[in-house]
Amino acid sequence: MNGSAGLEPVTPAGADPVDAIDAPSGSHGTDLTKESESYTHGHHESVLRSHRRRTAANSAEFLLPHLRPGMSLLDVGCGPGTVTVDLAERLADGTVVGVDASDQVLQAARDLAEAHGTKNIHFEHANAYELPFEDDTFDVVYAHQLLQHLSEPVAALREMRRVAKPGGIIAVRDADYAAMTWYPESAALTEWNILYHEVTHAYGFQPDAGRRLLSWVRDAGFDPAGIVPSASVWCYATPDDRAWWGGLWAERCTQSNFAVQATESALADEVGLEQLAHGWLDWAQQPDGWFAVLNGEVLVRA
Ligand SMILES: C[S@@+](CC[C@H](N)C(=O)[O-])C[C@H]1O[C@@H](n2cnc3c(N)ncnc32)[C@H](O)[C@@H]1O
Repeated sequence: MNGSAGLEPVTPAGADPVDAIDAPSGSHGTDLTKESESYTHGHHESVLRSHRRRTAANSAEFLLPHLRPGMSLLDVGCGPGTVTVDLAERLADGTVVGVDASDQVLQAARDLAEAHGTKNIHFEHANAYELPFEDDTFDVVYAHQLLQHLSEPVAALREMRRVAKPGGIIAVRDADYAAMTWYPESAALTEWNILYHEVTHAYGFQPDAGRRLLSWVRDAGFDPAGIVPSASVWCYATPDDRAWWGGLWAERCTQSNFAVQATESALADEVGLEQLAHGWLDWAQQPDGWFAVLNGEVLVRA
């Protein structure tokens, strides 16, 4: 989707460095010590509304059978922490640490843990490329919907392995945008999916991460014998789910960091983004509306 710039970029309220606009970085010459890779979605309320639906059951099912009482777990790119807190409650005798590059979202995660009365958890600011932990620290290192937002996912996987104990588990899960599918057909949703690819590619990220997790883990040098790939799906097809998913994407198209990056990179303008938002709201009202998000998963031993 190409268009003339028309939308004044709106920096989301309370934006912090990981939300900030950055020049497209590309995958070469990236300074991995910086935290200024520009996280596509940012942390607008419409984005957090999506992340807050996530639980251990709907976002870490492939990992759950491997959890044992007393294990230590690190959640890299934990966002607002709903999965992290859920995992901590399942590891009641263990220690869980959530890290993220956004202070804004870390505060939301701390508030959530406090509201739940979850004691065996804490949250820290950290860059996935330089985790502030000794070698061989955690039994489990988990990253959910993170690698698609990093220009160097293989470097991050190596860093996750460094902080995992020998024989410990690294578990990663990412959506695959090209594999998303929906009904009824919608020209606006097709345009949205194309634009999402254009914007993320412009900023050096890979939106079709799900299908690549296995290759990234292999590139990171993990023992192939210990790699367990899988996939699972989120499906939104009830009236409530459609209203939630369509409504939040309508807002994300016009108000989140995605809208800012789309206009900053001159890939869309205000009118085009409004049309995408209307398309999402139209889809949400379809009684036959159905949307599936395919997620790739890999579980591997350090
Ligand atoms: C799509 S969200 C996923 C949040 C959470 N894991 C979940 O599934 O609800 C990605 C998160 O990664 C964080 N992030 C992006 N780049 C990062 C980096 N280099 N280091 C640490 N966190 C990062 C973002 O701030 C954001 O909160």
